[in-house]
Amino acid sequence: MQNAVESPAVVRPATLKASFSIERLSPTIGAEIGNIDLTQALDDDQYLGLRAALLEHKLLVFRDQDISAAQQVALARRFGELEVHPVFPHHPDHPELVVLGGDSKIPGRENIYHSDVSWRAQPSMGSMLRCIECPAVGGDTLWVNMAEAYRRLPDAMRESIDGLIAVHDLLPAFGTRMTPQEREARRAAFPPVMHPVVRTHPETGERVLYVNEAFTTHLANYIEKHEVRFGFDFRLAEMDLLQYLYRQATAPEYQVRLKWRPNTIAFWDNRSTQHYAIQDYFPARRRMLRATIIGDVPV
Ligand code: SIN
Repeated sequence: MQNAVESPAVVRPATLKASFSIERLSPTIGAEIGNIDLTQALDDDQYLGLRAALLEHKLLVFRDQDISAAQQVALARRFGELEVHPVFPHHPDHPELVVLGGDSKIPGRENIYHSDVSWRAQPSMGSMLRCIECPAVGGDTLWVNMAEAYRRLPDAMRESIDGLIAVHDLLPAFGTRMTPQEREARRAAFPPVMHPVVRTHPETGERVLYVNEAFTTHLANYIEKHEVRFGFDFRLAEMDLLQYLYRQATAPEYQVRLKWRPNTIAFWDNRSTQHYAIQDYFPARRRMLRATIIGDVPV
């Protein structure tokens, strides 16, 4: 790792007074939080401790938390304002909760590395996903530490992507099951947005590789940084570069894999991670509820 840049310091939960336990799940990402009861509202020390733990570990896992949909909304809202997703189905009483779960006829499309709603001008700060029902085996989720993926890029690659801007769009992933009229309406409501290829995490200062295969469609300013002879050179080189960058999310060295049980909750930082929900469990059922916390404009 001679090329890796230094990670900036993040707030350590150990400096806070929180009473819960923290057990790391992999060397690069994820921690299981114990000795906490999420049916009770968080006190300020717990809130600050969890927020610091989220920044440090990027994914927090809670087991055996039999909370209601209303409690999940309240818990997620403690960390920020919640969005209402424009495409996924919602919980009947809580529009802020997306209902996830496919079947063999209409499988989910979450089996592609992505950061939630990166197609928004203000993408998500974090997501909180609760398992309602899951198969005895299969249906695991992978998360990736994209700050580590950036840190371990070769120096020349980091230099070559510095200042690049990527375009993110919801339609390639979500538009395929829409009528042409629905696609038009979504296009008008959610035009493509531009975000830096490398964003700076607003709380930790970490630099993060922020392109993903699900929602990033192309680069807006490739030729500002790169010499090209002809149009076809530029398009090929730009797409090759994007493929290389997407591919970084697939390195097991930057990942953790979670086996779900009912009442497991995963809370992750969308600013510094990507995830992939494995669709290997049909005809078994898997039902999840997700609250998605609004973040800030990536810079
Ligand atoms: C998601 O992509 O937010 C859902 C992940 C999952 O269902 O495991």
